[in-house]
Amino acid sequence: MARGPGLALLSLSLLPPLLLLVAVIGHAAAQDNCTCPTNKMTMCERSGPGGRCQCRALGSGLLVDCSTLTSKCLLLKARMSASKSGRALVRPSEHALVDNDGLYDPDCDQQGSFKARQCNQTSVCWCVNSVGVRRTDKGDQSLRCDELVRTHHILIDLRHRPDTRAFNHSDLDAELRRLFRERYLLHPKFVAAVHYEHPTIQIELQQNASQKAAGDVDIADAAYYFERDVKGESVFPGRGGLDVRVRGEPLLLERTLIYYLDEKPPQFSMKRLTSGLIAVIVVVAVALVAGVVVLVVTNRRKSGKYKKVEVKELGEMRKEPSL
Ligand SMILES: *[C@@H]1O[C@H](CO)[C@@H](O)[C@H](O)[C@H]1NC(C)=O
Ligand SMILES: *[C@@H]1O[C@H](CO)[C@@H](O)[C@H](O)[C@H]1NC(C)=O
Ligand SMILES: *[C@@H]1O[C@H](CO)[C@@H](O)[C@H](O)[C@H]1NC(C)=O
Ligand SMILES: *[C@@H]1O[C@H](CO)[C@@H](O)[C@H](O)[C@H]1NC(C)=O
Repeated sequence: MARGPGLALLSLSLLPPLLLLVAVIGHAAAQDNCTCPTNKMTMCERSGPGGRCQCRALGSGLLVDCSTLTSKCLLLKARMSASKSGRALVRPSEHALVDNDGLYDPDCDQQGSFKARQCNQTSVCWCVNSVGVRRTDKGDQSLRCDELVRTHHILIDLRHRPDTRAFNHSDLDAELRRLFRERYLLHPKFVAAVHYEHPTIQIELQQNASQKAAGDVDIADAAYYFERDVKGESVFPGRGGLDVRVRGEPLLLERTLIYYLDEKPPQFSMKRLTSGLIAVIVVVAVALVAGVVVLVVTNRRKSGKYKKVEVKELGEMRKEPSL
C-alpha cells in the first residue's frame, strides 16, 4: 500500500536529475556540430556562458571567423604545424612538384595578415606582399620591410583538359563567377574578367585597398582557397572536391599558374622588369592528382629540365604577366 506514494515520490525526486540528464545529452548533441564550416584546420569548442562555438586556427591558436574565409597566412601556418606534428597532409605525392608553392611557416599578425617581413630559422629574411609571396631579395636580420605591399591583381591561369570540347564562353564565365561568389564568398565586383580560349582559361581578380570594405573577402584568400581546391586539398571540411559544371559538362582542370601583381613594383636587384609593368611574380604550379605524375614524368623524359624550373618557381622565377 505504501509503495504507491513512495514510488511517486521517488520518481518525482528523480525528475530533476532526469531532466538534467536530458539537457546534458541535448547539449552534447548540440556540441557535435561545433566545427568551422570554412576551415578544417581548426580546433573548436563551446565556451563561455552562452556556449558559443569558437574555433582557433591550428598553429597560431588565433580565433577565426567561420562565417568567412580564413586568411592565407593562418592557413599556411596551420599547414606547416600539421606537417611538423606528423598529421597526415592531404597531398597528391611527396614529389617536389607539389611542394613548390612557396610553403614556409609564416609570421602572421593578430588579424591573420602576413607580416611584411618574414624570416626563416636561419635568420634569412625577406619582404612579402599581402599574399605572402617574396618581393625583395633575401637579406639578413637587418633587412627592413616598411609596409605590407598589397597584391591588388591576381591572374589565375588554368587549362582544362584539351580533349574536351570547347565550352561556351559566357556559360563558363557565369559558372566561374558563381563559384567565386558562392564557394569563396568573394563579392562579384572583384572578379574582373574571365578570359577563355580553348583550353586556356584566365580568371582575373582585382581588388585595391580602397575598394575593399570591412568584411569583404580578400582576393588573396579566395585565390588560395581556389588553389587548394584545384589541388584536391580543400580547406573546407567534408565537402567534396571542386565540381564545376558548365551546362552539365564537368570542367576538369589540369594546370594552374597564378600571377600576383602588387601595387608597387617588387624590389629585386636583378633589373629584368620593364617599367610599365606593375609587378610580377612567383608562380604556383599546380596539378590535379592525376596530372602530377603525368607532368613530372613527361617533362622529365623530354628535357630533364622540368624539375629545375619548378624549383626556381619556389621564389626565384619572375615572369612578366602576359596580360
Ligand atoms: C549545427 O546544427 C544545427 C541544427 O541541426 C544547424 O542549424 C547548424 O547549421 C549546424 N551548424 C554547423 C556548423 O554545422
Ligand atoms: C632559410 O632560407 C635559406 C635561404 O633561402 C635557405 O638556404 C635555408 O634552407 C632556409 N632555412 C630553413 C630552415 O628554411
Ligand atoms: C552561349 O550561351 C549563351 C546563353 O548562355 C547563348 O546566348 C550564346 O549564343 C552561346 N554562344 C554560343 C557561341 O553558342
Ligand atoms: C582602385 O580601383 C578603382 C576602381 O577600379 C579605381 O578607380 C581606383 O583608382 C583604384 N585605386 C588605386 C589606388 O589603385
